[in-house]
Amino acid sequence: MTKTLIVGNWKMNLNVHQASLYVHELSSEINHHDDVDVVLAPSFIALQTLSLQVKKHHLSLAAQNCYWRDDGAFTGEVSATQLRGLVNYVIIGHSERRHKFGETNKEIRAKVQAVLRNGLIPILCVGETADERANGETKHVLHDQVSGGLANVASDEIHKVVIAYEPVWAIGTGENALPKDVESAEETIRHQVESLYGHKAATGTKLLYGGSVNSDNASDYLALKGIDGFLVGGASLHVQQFSSIISKAHQLKGKKS
Ligand code: 13P
Repeated sequence: MTKTLIVGNWKMNLNVHQASLYVHELSSEINHHDDVDVVLAPSFIALQTLSLQVKKHHLSLAAQNCYWRDDGAFTGEVSATQLRGLVNYVIIGHSERRHKFGETNKEIRAKVQAVLRNGLIPILCVGETADERANGETKHVLHDQVSGGLANVASDEIHKVVIAYEPVWAIGTGENALPKDVESAEETIRHQVESLYGHKAATGTKLLYGGSVNSDNASDYLALKGIDGFLVGGASLHVQQFSSIISKAHQLKGKKS
């Protein structure tokens, strides 16, 4: 059974104390379901504290980024090697990294490779901007970002990679993508994975949607056959909202499988 994967990306929010309190509250709010994996992506500073808290609550952790080298003179960076033992996942190529910090596909593919090399799971984010969408370039952008991000991934590693479709214009705007558009992007991404790694890899790749997901619209995406979960931003900062998304994922899982 493929589990639904629900990842809460807290971005640059919550200090260590608030993060710890959140885990305490979330764990008393949600029941553990075998068919849903819940992952929290706090700031680096909270990972150590939360790593001691989450295991007994069946939650796991993701880092929001990492550097592509394993160690060395890279002031201010954190490597995937340093994240081992703290997290299971690392978000790579988030649109805020691409567009606010100028990350390129070249860096992103090196980071994906670093994450895999260190035995962790990369969540590779892809998605078009509003302008690219308006110019009808969505497919082209997705091809570019999927093949660019996966360029260093061997065929025996592709099953470990999670891909998140996050249209940039839908992030933090309240303007969530239409399910039919998410479905079309999902098909484009799987098609691209298929052309690189074959049919089995394409159908087996876990694909998430992110962009203004909340407890009201979550079910619309979860009903889509090719969507395996979410990368949730703003709504994941609210325990009630996030737990409601998690229980919807559990309810809908039964209907889909
Ligand atoms: P929002 O859910 O706030 O739109 O953010 C999505 C996102 O960027 C998750 O990585």
